[in-house]
Parts: sequence; structure tokens; C-alpha cells
Amino acid sequence: MNYRHIYHAGGAADVFKHAVLARILLYLQRKDAALRVIDTHAGAGCYDLSSPQAQRTGEWAGGIGRLVLHPPTGPAAALLEPYLAAVRALNPAGGLTLYPGSPVLVRQLLRRRDRLTAIEIQPEAAVALKARFAGDIQVRVLALDGWLALKAHLPPQERRGLVLVDPPFEAEGEFARLAAGLVAAHRRWPGGVYVLWYPVKDRREGERFRAGLAASGMPRILDARLETRAPSAEPRLDGSGLVVVNPPFTLVDELKLLLPALAETLADVPGTARWHVAWLAGEAPPEG
Ligand SMILES: C[S@@+](CC[C@H](N)C(=O)[O-])C[C@H]1O[C@@H](n2cnc3c(N)ncnc32)[C@H](O)[C@@H]1O
Repeated sequence: MNYRHIYHAGGAADVFKHAVLARILLYLQRKDAALRVIDTHAGAGCYDLSSPQAQRTGEWAGGIGRLVLHPPTGPAAALLEPYLAAVRALNPAGGLTLYPGSPVLVRQLLRRRDRLTAIEIQPEAAVALKARFAGDIQVRVLALDGWLALKAHLPPQERRGLVLVDPPFEAEGEFARLAAGLVAAHRRWPGGVYVLWYPVKDRREGERFRAGLAASGMPRILDARLETRAPSAEPRLDGSGLVVVNPPFTLVDELKLLLPALAETLADVPGTARWHVAWLAGEAPPEG
């Protein structure tokens, strides 16, 4: 397994994923009851954007770097604020050196009664994660296979919360594994909120993945995509998608404000970025 998230930390895909994750978590916290977040592919937790690895790709500069330099205004700014506040909190002296991966972002947003289970299989990343959260009673770090843990840890004791599944998409068959993992997890815990990340690269594979989920029988599935460049002739990471099962009823409207703003700010070439939000199954229940 060669994947190291430091090369991609803070890139456009991270910004999209983390901004949406923050929105969902904040919605779940509208109720008092404690919640559990399970991050099955957690990564190292915190990334040094000045490191040779991050500098080599420079992906962060086109993601969080651009967002910090050219923050959206209006309603999108308010929606992004909790996420950007978490980024600022990691950089108390100002500037942008450290970037929060999903477990660090989630940890910053947890209330005292909420809990996080962060799972990571790559030994160095798991060690970094354990060191980061040493002594933190709200966080449990497990150096395990996230796919197995996905089944073993559901449903959580709290019976409220969300599961983030964010695999590296390096191995063959990752789309199929993601879909099967979701179906099995949903069977064990139908009331959980699930957030799945996937690449927009091989478009036919993406279509098959979405069609499979649409036919899976799970009742409420939302798909959102952000592409930061025009479709490439050869398969190339043009953007990323998030599948959200049991999304907050507020999420569609929020995405319709957030995604155009992110598309405008994060476009590789001005005007070439695209966004998309659609239900794969079901739709939001009426308000109230
Ligand atoms: C895309 S990165 C995660 C990024 C992180 N979720 C974030 O948003 O900051 C994918 C991570 O999954 C880890 N990984 C790969 N296979 C895994 C498995 N079977 N179980 C748990 N973690 C795995 C990789 O080592 C890598 O750190």
C-alpha cells in the first residue's frame, strides 16, 4: 500500500469533503443526544503543507490555499465558516502551514458528549494518529482494516452519528468494495448517516457505482460532485463525489449554495469547474 495522503492534503477534493462533513456534523448536533463519528480510513490526522511531499504536488495550493486567499462571500461564506475556523485553529499564528485531516477536523467539532472512532491501517499514519489523540477520552484510534471495522463497530452505542468511508482508490475493485461495504453497514445500522468519497476519473465506473446504489434499496441517497476542471480526454482526477446516505434535510439547499462558490474559487481555469447535486434514491422528507 503506497498511498500517503500528505501528497493530496488540503487539495480541492479535501476541501469539498471536509466542508460537507462539517455541515453534516453541525446538523447532527442540533439535537442534544450524544453522537459517534466513525472514520474508517482516517489518514494521519494532521498534515504539514510546508513538507517536501505536500510541496511536491502543490495540490493544497489549488484547494485550501486558494480558498483562504479568495474566500467566497455571502451565504456560502457562512456555510464554510465552521470548516475554515477548524483550519485556522490549527494555525494559531496565522498563515497556513497545517491542514486538518478528517479526524482532526471532526475532533474540533465534537461536543464533550460526542465520540470519534478513527481507523487507519497504514502503520506510520496510525502511529501519528495515536500520538495526536493520546489521552483524549473522546477519541479511539484503531490500527485496523477499516472495511472490517465498518461492520464490527456498527451500530455504535450512541445510535446517532455518521460514518465516513474515504478509501484511497488505489486498489482494483474499490468502487465495488465501497458499495458492498455501504450496503452491509446500512443493513446493520439503517439510521446512520454515511458519507462516502469517490473519485471522478473513470466516468463509466462512477455511473455504474451510482446506478448500483440507486438500485440497492437504501431509501435516501444523495450524490454530490465537484469537478474543478473540464472533463479530461484520458482518465484523470477531474474532481470528486460524495455519496451521503440519510443526509440532513438541510443538506441539498446548503450544497446548492456551497458548491457553486467552491466551483468558482477552486476551478483550475476560471469558468471550467462544474458541480452537481441529485438524489440517487428517495428525497428529503417535508420540513417540520
Ligand atoms: C484518502 S486517505 C484518508 C484521508 C482522510 N479521511 C481525510 O479526509 O483526511 C485514505 C487513507 O486510508 C488508509 N487505508 C487504506 N486502506 C485501508 C484500510 N483497509 N483500512 C483502513 N485504512 C486504510 C490509507 O493509509 C490512507 O491513510
